[in-house]
Amino acid sequence: MPAADASRVRRVTSLDMRVHYHDVFPGESGPLMPSIKRILVTGGAGFLGSHLCERLVEAGHDVVCVDNFFTSQKTNVAHLLGCGNFELLRHDIIHPLWLEVDEIYNFACPAAPGHYQYNPIKTMKTSVMGAINMLGMAKRCRAKVLQASTSEVYGDPEVHPQPESYRGAVNPIGPRACYDEGKRAAETLFMDYHRANGVNIRIVRIFNTYGPRMHPYDGRVVSNFIRQALAGEPITIFGTGAQTRSFCYRDDLVEGIIRMMNGPDDFVGPVNIGNPGEFTIRQLAELTLELSGSKSQLVEKPLPVDDPERRRPDITLAKQKLGWEPQVALREGLTKTIEWFRSVKISDYRAPTPNY
Ligand SMILES: NC(=O)c1ccc[n+]([C@@H]2O[C@H](COP(=O)([O-])OP(=O)(O)OC[C@H]3O[C@@H](n4cnc5c(N)ncnc54)[C@H](O)[C@@H]3O)[C@@H](O)[C@H]2O)c1
Repeated sequence: MPAADASRVRRVTSLDMRVHYHDVFPGESGPLMPSIKRILVTGGAGFLGSHLCERLVEAGHDVVCVDNFFTSQKTNVAHLLGCGNFELLRHDIIHPLWLEVDEIYNFACPAAPGHYQYNPIKTMKTSVMGAINMLGMAKRCRAKVLQASTSEVYGDPEVHPQPESYRGAVNPIGPRACYDEGKRAAETLFMDYHRANGVNIRIVRIFNTYGPRMHPYDGRVVSNFIRQALAGEPITIFGTGAQTRSFCYRDDLVEGIIRMMNGPDDFVGPVNIGNPGEFTIRQLAELTLELSGSKSQLVEKPLPVDDPERRRPDITLAKQKLGWEPQVALREGLTKTIEWFRSVKISDYRAPTPNY
């Protein structure tokens, strides 16, 4: 870089000047690169996206949150709106978006079965066209892009626990396929943009995560159980409750995601991020009753189609490559989540779809 340019860069101090720096030197890295980055979080108003935005804003980054508010509400990021380094943009990622950024966390996608099955074609479009739009932006800006993939790519697994090398057993024509296959196709696109165009990617396979700011009407097992327990309503268990799940607290998840984004460029994933503790659904229901002090009864309902019997991440790779493993036990995380559910007015929440 010419000496005159270098001295100009050293004078970069304000946020506006940092933006200018990237426009002048797109994709520039090295000692003069400011450590503050322009970061796009799609689905940034959602449960996980809002926590991610919070962490990135606190670290001083210039954060753009993009969301169509299908399964979320502005209250999740309302506390960030006054921050000079946070912007909120209503946009649907199936449509192209023109921004200049350094990093993209692609989190936009309905994640709960009732939500993603409500309009399955839209779900597939969000995964596939959203991935194409974000990868196109990453290619143009020479930005790094991380895909929020899912343990659902393993389907109803025959291998337990699931390592990243397991290719999965997904039913491509079942009611869950719009999500499972959409996320699988997105992984394919990420790898192809990486191999064909050298886009700097990361793929994280997220396992069941819970915590404050879950949508009370998302129909996921943790939010359903807590909402029903606090209201004194019967707790609905699908099947006998013998099926198992692993539950990762949101702080652990966000830490794993940020480590993956900032990890070495030669480790693009996929990497499993989840808590390897395995609990039956019945155990989760009983723990929820104990921690909430509820007297609700447990009632059984028929198991939905293609519901996986067992789910537990093998996190060897995350431990080795990212030095990451979860720190929060289910009892502790569930206590905090129940406290949050008690602190909000659930009637203020609108159910995104009738399926919860
Ligand atoms: N929470 C989990 O247990 C879990 C597990 C595996 C994967 N994931 C993945 O993590 C991501 C976030 O999940 P979450 O639990 O925070 O769910 P969420 O529903 O709270 O967040 C998703 C966000 O994306 C937004 N969105 C949906 N479609 C969009 C579109 N077309 N354009 C713009 N915004 C759109 C929603 O309004 C919402 O704010 C999802 O991609 C999900 O597949 C989550």
